[in-house]
This record gives sequence, C-alpha cells and structure tokens, in this order.
Amino acid sequence: MRHLMSPLDLSVEELDKLLDLAGDIEKNPEKYAHKCDGKILATCFYEPSTRTRLSFESAMMHLGGKVLGFATADSSSAAKGESVSDTIRMISCYADICAMRHPKEGAPMVASTKARIPVINAGDGGHQHPTQTLTDLLTIRSLKGRLDHLTIGLCGDLKFGRTVHSLINALIRYPGISFIFISPEELRIPDYIREDVLDANGIPYKEVIRLEEVMPRLDLLYMTRVQRERFFNEEDYVRLKDFYILNKEKMAYAREDMLILHPLPRVNEISVEVDDDPRAVYFEQVQYGVYVRMALILTLLGLAGQEEK
Ligand code: NCD
Repeated sequence: MRHLMSPLDLSVEELDKLLDLAGDIEKNPEKYAHKCDGKILATCFYEPSTRTRLSFESAMMHLGGKVLGFATADSSSAAKGESVSDTIRMISCYADICAMRHPKEGAPMVASTKARIPVINAGDGGHQHPTQTLTDLLTIRSLKGRLDHLTIGLCGDLKFGRTVHSLINALIRYPGISFIFISPEELRIPDYIREDVLDANGIPYKEVIRLEEVMPRLDLLYMTRVQRERFFNEEDYVRLKDFYILNKEKMAYAREDMLILHPLPRVNEISVEVDDDPRAVYFEQVQYGVYVRMALILTLLGLAGQEEK
C-alpha cells in the first residue's frame, strides 16, 4: 500500500507516468468516468480549504466514486480530543482512500502509519503540500512543454509557504533548473531548504527583495500569499501582507512567454487587472488540479494502467 506524503515519494519515472495519465484524463474523461465505481474517498480536513478539498471530491466524483469527510477540526471528534491515529483507524473502515490536511507538520505521516488505506497529505502545517505540487508540475508541463531548463521565480511568503517547499523539492530533480527567490528578509526560504535541498544538490539560486529587477529573466513566476495563520503576531502580518502586489506595470518587465502561477487563494498579491493577461494561468492551474488528483487516486488505488485491459 502506498501513501503520498511528499512529492519525492514518487520517482521521476512514476511522476512522468502520473502526469501522462492526467493528460489522458484531460483528453478522454469518459474513459475514466466509472473507474472508481463503488470506491469511497474520505477528506479529513483539520484546517480550512476550498480548492484542495473540493478538488479531491470533484476528482473522486468524476471517477464515479463517492466521498465523505469533514471540513473543520471542530466538526470532527478532534474537538473531543481524539488523536489522528485513532481517527484514521476508524476512517479505514469507512473509506478506500483518505486525503488529510492538518495544521501540525507530520500529522498525515503519523496517520499513514496506522492506516489500512492509502493516505494523501493534503497540506501539513508549513511543511509540504504534494498534491499542489503535482498540480503545478502538470500545469507547467502542459503549458510550457517541459519541466527542465527553467528559471523559476518564487515570490512572497517563502518561509511558511508549504506549496513553495514541495515545489522546490520536486523541481530540483530535473536538469537545468534555477531559482530566484523573491521575498522580504523575514520571509526568506527556511535554512533547511537552502542547505539540505539546494546547496546539497548544487542547485543554482539567488535571493532578492525586489521583484522588478529579476522579472525579465523568469520563465515562470510563482506568486504566493503571506500565510497569516502561521504568524506569531498580527502586526508582522499587517506589515508584510502587501509587500508584493503584481500589477500591469510590473508585468511590463516580464517576458512574453512568462507564466504566472499561484496556488490560490489570492489575497492582494496579484491585482485583478492581471487576470486577463494571457500569461496569468492560475485559474487554469485549478483545472489541472482535478485531473492530477484523478490520476493520483487511480494510481494509489492500483487502478491506473488498466484501461487497455
Ligand atoms: C495553499 C495551501 O493550502 O497551502 N492553498 C492550496 O491548497 N491551493 C496555498 C495557500 O493557502 O496560500
């Protein structure tokens, strides 16, 4: 039985297969409409979510399966003090696969050790968010045609942004990747990413504060929201929340083929005037998220690769 805690749980070959499957699902959705008939997905969300939870639910429904679950910790027995280990033992009796989001780093991992069904980490604290990374990779591969030889700008809250951490981990496995990290001093990437991931693998990167100065060099700009819920005090959040606002004026510095991605939700960091720019692909990214989660569910349930049979 396989779980997904980090994008690195899949080898590059497995990831390629999964993205190919997602691509086939996009082209031939009817082929997959009954693959999960009789299967149940549980969504256990101890932290707020719109996209990730509904994207998982939509993915399972498009496969013919059913869903159950909870959307907040207070509406589950966690409010009575139940541990994730106990909850997942029980969920294992109700469902065939589980997507779990939790504010504590490592909670889905703990759950996976007690589970009798595959567990997917749908975001654990400021740590990882592997299915957002799969979404990002599918978006990049579909719209740029490749995952290698790219200069990627990551902008905003690089300290607490789990989508950023997972994406860096996944992308360093492709040749010719370099990063430009754009953040205020207080929200720089964590030391463990700088040392254990980037330096340890000899990945070229640069850290800057001003977005405009690096914009012309980027193939991709990955914008992120300042993660209010992970701040220790509101004052720091208020001071930093509008540090970057991508608008038309700043977009004038970007290449014609630079793509703007954002895991969403957007707060102020991208002005709505940018939404009509053909380079803004963050809403297309949401659609890719459904295809890739369909591919992931099939893969973890052992139902992928059976369509030819
Ligand atoms: C992200 C998350 O939850 O980490 N959202 C998402 O899943 N698409 C990004 C964020 O909340 O800023």
